[in-house]
Amino acid sequence: VANFFSPLTIKDITLRNRVAMSPMCQYSAQDGLMNDWHLVHLGGRAVGGSALVIAEAAAVSPNARATPEDMGLWNDAQAESCERTVAFIKQNGAVPGIQLQHAGRMGGMQSPWNGNKHYPDGHEHAWEPVGPSAITLGGPFPRPPREMLLSDIQQTQRDFAAAAGRARDAGFQWLELHYGHSYLMQNFFSPISNKRTDAYGGSFEGRARMLVETFKAVREEWPESLPISIRLGVRDYQADEQPIEESIELVRLFKAAGLDLIDVTMGFNANHVSDSKPNVPWGDDAFLADTAGLIREQTDMLTATSWNIRDPHVANRMIGAGKVDMVMLGRSMLADPYWPYHAAQQLGLDKPQDKLPKQYSVWLHGHEIIKAQ
Ligand SMILES: Cc1cc2nc3c(=O)[nH]c(=O)nc-3n(C[C@H](O)[C@H](O)[C@H](O)COP(=O)(O)O)c2cc1C
Repeated sequence: VANFFSPLTIKDITLRNRVAMSPMCQYSAQDGLMNDWHLVHLGGRAVGGSALVIAEAAAVSPNARATPEDMGLWNDAQAESCERTVAFIKQNGAVPGIQLQHAGRMGGMQSPWNGNKHYPDGHEHAWEPVGPSAITLGGPFPRPPREMLLSDIQQTQRDFAAAAGRARDAGFQWLELHYGHSYLMQNFFSPISNKRTDAYGGSFEGRARMLVETFKAVREEWPESLPISIRLGVRDYQADEQPIEESIELVRLFKAAGLDLIDVTMGFNANHVSDSKPNVPWGDDAFLADTAGLIREQTDMLTATSWNIRDPHVANRMIGAGKVDMVMLGRSMLADPYWPYHAAQQLGLDKPQDKLPKQYSVWLHGHEIIKAQ
C-alpha cells in the first residue's frame, strides 16, 4: 500500500513523495514576469521537501489574466523569467510545474489587497471579460462577459498550446491546466454558465468540446515524456451543477487523449468566491477526497485533490485508501514551507530530517522541537 512518502513515477518523472504545493496566485508579478518573490516562494517549498511545486496560474494571453499582477506565459520574456526558479527547484530535488489559465468572466479584477472585485468600467485594467455565454458572474464580478466567437475559441486554444510550449522551453517538467474555479474552461463545462447553442454548448459533448480540444492542442506541444494534469471543477455544491457522471466521462475523454492525473476541485460557477457559499462543507477535513476516490475508481486515472488537508495522518489515509495518489496543499504550505518534514516527524518516521536538503538535515538529527511540543 502506497503512503505519503512513497515515490511516484509518471512517465519520465519520479516524484520523491506524494506532497505537492498546489498552484497559488501571488498577485506579485509585473508584466506577467516571475521575480524574486516567486523564487523564494516556490524555491522555499522545494527546500522544504515537497515533491512537486506548481507555480501559480499563468495567463495564456494578457486578457486571460484575472488581475494585472498575474503571471503570464504569453511571451518569451515571461518564459525566460521562470528559468532561474525552475533550475533552483530542480537542484533541490523537486519537480517544477506550472499551471495555465484563462480567467474568463473574472478577467479585469483587482488583486485581493486592492479590492478583490472587477475594476470599475473605464479603468485601464478593466479589460473585457469573455465567456461561453454572456452570463454575468455577479457579486464582485458585475461586468458582463462577451460571448466568445468561434474565432475567439480557436485563438484561445492556440494561446494555450503556445504557452505550453513556452513552459516546456523554460524547463518546467509538469504542466497543469486550470479547468476549475469559475475560470473560462470551467464555464464552458458547466450548464450554469454555458448556454451556447452551437457545437460548444448544449449537450455534454458540446460543453466538453472546448476543454477536450484545448487539452489535445496542449498535449501536442508538451513533451510526451512529461506529465500533464488537469484541475477540474467537479463539485459546486449546487442543485443545478453538472452531474458527477459527466465529470467521470470527461476524465475518460482526457485519459484517452493522454492525461496523466486529474486534480479534483470545485467549480465555483455559482455562489461566487466572495459569497459564503453555505453549501460547501468548509469545516470538513479533505472534503473532496471521496469524490476524487470515486473518479479514481471509475476511470483508473491517477488523482489528486486539495482543500483542508492539514493533518498528515489524514493525507496518509487518503493515499493509503487509494482515494488519491497525491495531495495538493495550498494554505498548509503557506503556513509551513517545511510541511513534509514536520509531517514525517508527526508520522513518527525514522530520520525525518532527511526530507530536507543536506545544508539543514545534517544538523537536525535528534532535534525534534515540533514533535516534542
Ligand atoms: C492565495 C491563493 C491563491 C490561489 N491561487 C490558485 C491558482 O492560481 N490556481 C488554482 O488552481 N488554485 C488556486 N488556489 C487554490 C489552492 O490551490 C488550493 O486548492 C486551495 O487553497 C485549497 O487547498 P488548501 O485547503 O490546502 O488551502 C489559491 C489559493 C490561495 C489561498
